[in-house]
Amino acid sequence: MSDQPRLPRHVGIIMDGNGRWAQLRGLPRIEGHREGAQSVRDVTRAARRLGLEALTLYAFSSQNWARPADEVRALMQLLCDYLRDEHDEIMDNQIRLDAIGDVERLPPHVRDPLDALRAESAHHTGMTLTLALSYGGRESIARAIRAVAADVAAGTLAPDDIDVDRFGAYLPTTRLPPLDLLVRTSGEQRISNFMLWELAYAELVFVDVMWPDFRKDQLHEVLDQYAARERRFGLTSGQIAARAELTADDSDVET
Ligand code: IPE
Ligand code: IPE
Ligand code: MG
Repeated sequence: MSDQPRLPRHVGIIMDGNGRWAQLRGLPRIEGHREGAQSVRDVTRAARRLGLEALTLYAFSSQNWARPADEVRALMQLLCDYLRDEHDEIMDNQIRLDAIGDVERLPPHVRDPLDALRAESAHHTGMTLTLALSYGGRESIARAIRAVAADVAAGTLAPDDIDVDRFGAYLPTTRLPPLDLLVRTSGEQRISNFMLWELAYAELVFVDVMWPDFRKDQLHEVLDQYAARERRFGLTSGQIAARAELTADDSDVET
């Protein structure tokens, strides 16, 4: 798919359906999470090869802490295993690993290797792989508002200067390109508290396959769907067409 005409810069994925994948096979839910980790590997590798700038994966929500303790424990162990097993792949492929969310809540056996790999890969200029861990979109906005309020109280920010760009700079996603495409697996058509601010103009694609069955081929399919969409950002179709023509003219001149 290297000839992808309109590749998104930043793709976010709500990786849902691990439990149902397992239950459909008469397996414990954790087996679905284990197989889901293979999808993370496959999709990350494919995204890097395609040349995406950023891939953000919703791995554990603020609300997922309320799941049964043994499932939470197993998920934390899988995360820890993932960070150990993927270390070389991430380093060898110039991937910058980052995390968003309330990572202080993660147990030390996850947080320590996470912090270490974030630091070790911080200078990488290939794709940024962001894991949303203990993450909630509303929590993320509330945290940003606390920081804004603190700066206003300290006198370093004037309330009248707070606009979309200024506020966005307080969010943990500020270094990433705008979110172009949001994918959710498992057939559910909801956002479940993921990147609420960032998805303002993202294209949404919902697919029926469970996350453990979402691999390279399925990624290519959703990218095809994305390429066929017309993103208008509030403009008319005619304006978009005129802009595309201008861009084409520009590249004619350059070549
Ligand atoms: C997604 O799969 C993984 C996490 C939320 C951690 P689920 O565990 O939500 O699987 P379903 O939705 O119950 O099938
Ligand atoms: C969203 O899935 C969170 C992740 C994929 C990490 P959930 O399974 O937690 O969402 P709901 O409960 O179906 O909305
Ligand atoms: Mg789910």
